[in-house]
This record gives sequence, C-alpha cells and structure tokens, in this order.
Amino acid sequence: MTASLEEVAYKLAAGGKGILAADESASTIKKRFDAIGVESTFENRRDYREMLFRSEEAMSQYISGVILFDETIRQNAKDGTPLVKLIEQAGSIPGIKVDLGARPQPGCPGETITEGLDGLGERFKEYYELGARFAKWRAVIDIGAHIPSYTSILANAQALARYAALAQAAGIVPIVEPEVLMDGDHGIDRCYEVTEWVLKEVFQQLFYGRVKLEGTVLKPNMVIAGKKSAKQASVEEVAEKTVRCLKNCVPTAIPSIAFLSGGQSDEEATAHLDAMIRGSGLPWNLTFSYGRALQAAPQKAWSGKVENIAAGQAAFTHRAKMNYLAALGQWTTEVERKKAA
Ligand code: 13P
Repeated sequence: MTASLEEVAYKLAAGGKGILAADESASTIKKRFDAIGVESTFENRRDYREMLFRSEEAMSQYISGVILFDETIRQNAKDGTPLVKLIEQAGSIPGIKVDLGARPQPGCPGETITEGLDGLGERFKEYYELGARFAKWRAVIDIGAHIPSYTSILANAQALARYAALAQAAGIVPIVEPEVLMDGDHGIDRCYEVTEWVLKEVFQQLFYGRVKLEGTVLKPNMVIAGKKSAKQASVEEVAEKTVRCLKNCVPTAIPSIAFLSGGQSDEEATAHLDAMIRGSGLPWNLTFSYGRALQAAPQKAWSGKVENIAAGQAAFTHRAKMNYLAALGQWTTEVERKKAA
C-alpha cells in the first residue's frame, strides 16, 4: 500500500527523527569537497554519499528521510545497489530537490527568484518512479538595506505554491522552504520581521494555489541575528522568537516543521532546536532538516580516504543522534549527564 501524503508528511518529523539534506548541487558539493581536498568526481560523490547512507544506526534510528540531488537519485552504490534502495532498506524515505536554483530577479537588485517550474509535472512523475516520496524547493530571501521587496517575496511565494501543488498532484509531499538568509549584519528583530512577512505571504499563496497543508512540510530558517551582527542572540532568545514567529504564521494543519541550519555551527543548530522543544506547547512536530550541520563533521573525518569511512560514519551518527535528542527536547539533559559522568 502506498502511504498517503499526510502519512509521509507526518512521518518526516515524528519521534525525534529528522531529515538529512544531502541534495547539494554539483557546484555546492564541489565547494564542500574543495574544503577537504577531495576532487568532486562522480565516484567520489557516490562514495561519500554511500558512506552516509550505509551508516546503519543513524539511518535507521535518527533519520526519517534524505533529500537527494538529481544525480544521486539515479546513482548506484559501488556494489550496484541503487542508493535509493540503501535509504529505503534503512527505513528512511528518499526525497528529491527539484528547484534549479536561485537566479537574479529582473528589476529587483540584490534579489533572486528560484527557477525550475517548466516541465516540473513530468519531472515529478519520473522522480516518483525512481522512489521519491517527498521533494524540496528552496526560495532565497536576503536581508539588506533596501531588501527584501514585496515583488520578490510574492514571486518566490507563488513559485513555492505552484511547485507544491504539482508535487501533491504527483503523490509527492512538498517541503516548502522559504529561506531568509542569516548572512547579513542585521539583528534578530529584523530577521523576525522579514521571516514573519515571508511566511504570511507563503501561506497566503499556498491557499490560492490549492495546496493541501496536511500533506506539506515547512522548512523555515530560525529567527536569528545575521552572522555579521555584533549582537548575537542567546539560545533562549532564538528559541522564543522562532516559536513566536511560527505560531503567528503557520497553520496547525501543517504536520511537520523541519528547520534548515543555514550556516549555524553544528552545536548552535542542535541547541536551538532543543530549546524550542523544551519550551513545549507546540501544535506541530518540530525537527531538523540539516545539510551543513549534519555533514560538516563527517566530511572532515572522511576527507576522501577509504580508511576513514568508519570515522566519517561515526561523526555523522553522532551529529544525527544529537539532533534526534534535540528534537525530543533531551539534548541538554544528555550533555549535562555526560558532564556529570
Ligand atoms: P543547511 O542546513 O546547510 O542550511 O542546508 C539545508 C538545506 O537543504 C538548504 O536548502
């Protein structure tokens, strides 16, 4: 029996499990590999991702789903097993990134519009055949002196809604990702203001786009100060403002919210999630859908060497477990228990 959209959307954030975002485009994975001195070849990308997907404890206990890039969903492990099969065998759900990236938006200096809607209905049919049961589309909103503009927010929200409707028509759960970047020097309150504006518009457009919220997952940024801001907010402030912003914007029909890490350190991303869950009283399941905050450590440990595979898997498993504990609101307790021991 095939699971319904509602079941998949719920499962992606249930029981403390979260999503591994392993959908780096060819240019992004090259950047990551450059940083560890590994050449970005077809085989190296396969070996690296196979290492992650064969991390049995992480994949079966902490990871609900994996977002893949087009190349990876078609790729086989070294022994010929499709990588998608490895994910399924571990009890995790394969997903696919379907947007084709953010391009400069005409008339809106400094802003982008995410492309990839043309032919998307057909692409979804193929991705479903290849095993994808959920998808991701990322809209990018930057904060600056005169941005974002409503023109850009509206265009990106409309694209998200069209993508989400097409995904659902193909039996695939859309992850709707409007990312407000944390690259600037703005304070946390400016991030709150922009995130609220963006989320309000996104849900308005999902309504007009006739998207079924019960079968949708939201992937938002946390409400956080810009990386270059002199005043960084405390863990408690990030948690409080993020939850307040979400409560003001996200209908309770949405079953799952899975955060992006967006350039936070591994520990910050974990601590923030943990603090939000400990605050309790949440109408949705909150969890992680991290790329960098799950993969930075294993990439470093692996560094492209066969003899480091076990170390890479251990590093990935550790981060996945810490975020799993955070999604249950048990991470702080675990850290304190370890300190006391
Ligand atoms: P980060 O956690 O590295 O932000 O990546 C998540 C993601 O999928 C961004 O689109």
